[in-house]
Amino acid sequence: MRMTILDIQKMKERGERIPMITAYDYTSAQIADRAGVPMILVGDSLGMVVLGHSSTVPVTLDEMLHHIKAVVRGSQRSLVIGDLPFLTYTSVEQAVASAGRVMQETGAQAVKLEGGVSAAPMIARLVELGIPVMAHIGFTPQSVNQIGTRVQGRQSDAAAQLIADALAVEAAGAFAIVLELIPAELAAAITARLRIPTIGIGAGAGCAGQVQVWHDLLGLYSDFSPRHAKRYANLADQIGSAVASYASEVRDGVFPGPEHSATMPEGALRAALDQGE
Ligand code: KIV
Repeated sequence: MRMTILDIQKMKERGERIPMITAYDYTSAQIADRAGVPMILVGDSLGMVVLGHSSTVPVTLDEMLHHIKAVVRGSQRSLVIGDLPFLTYTSVEQAVASAGRVMQETGAQAVKLEGGVSAAPMIARLVELGIPVMAHIGFTPQSVNQIGTRVQGRQSDAAAQLIADALAVEAAGAFAIVLELIPAELAAAITARLRIPTIGIGAGAGCAGQVQVWHDLLGLYSDFSPRHAKRYANLADQIGSAVASYASEVRDGVFPGPEHSATMPEGALRAALDQGE
């Protein structure tokens, strides 16, 4: 049975911290699901970590749908949340159309969108129509060209705005909210004021849950790791040396060995060659 947003709310109420991880394909979804991660986010961070863009801005809804479908196929228990990409929820009507495609075409159980007070009307309508919404405030990557990549809400006015944003998305019916790159004490204060779980990334330990990007957590970049990420493996190095070993075994004629090859019954090849002559 898949997790539902009601299970996530119960985890919050029981004081259980909620892990979430991003995944973008069938295989990684299967690994995250089997590891018991309750929520998988198909983030538009795929624009950077999978598609090689410098931000999430170029990601399209069709690209998101393609990856969300694969993650849904790869998972059985985790709640799958599909990100709505840049400029696909600029009005209530457009948000309904975009979120509707995610829900109907991919089988995801929820959508995520960026924004606080200004996103509340979209969130309210989606929730009214039966579409669970995760909100996302603080550093909102789709606005990188406007706000840069830096901690949000350090000063009191900006912090007050983020508190208002969090309260607005909860009132609009969001089932959870991502807090990205905000000071730890502000994230803890927002968490204490909300009934719904806060899921932090670069927002300290006082959130109800945490989210990390698959590639950051697994060290899939050998040369880059954001400050808020913790590497639990160094897969770029391990994969790099596995691929180099494969390439050198092919060059040296070591791979494939007899154990990787099929053979014919004795005499069958001779008979085939004779027939062909
Ligand atoms: O797109 C993404 O992966 C995200 C997370 C970093 C929260 O929005």
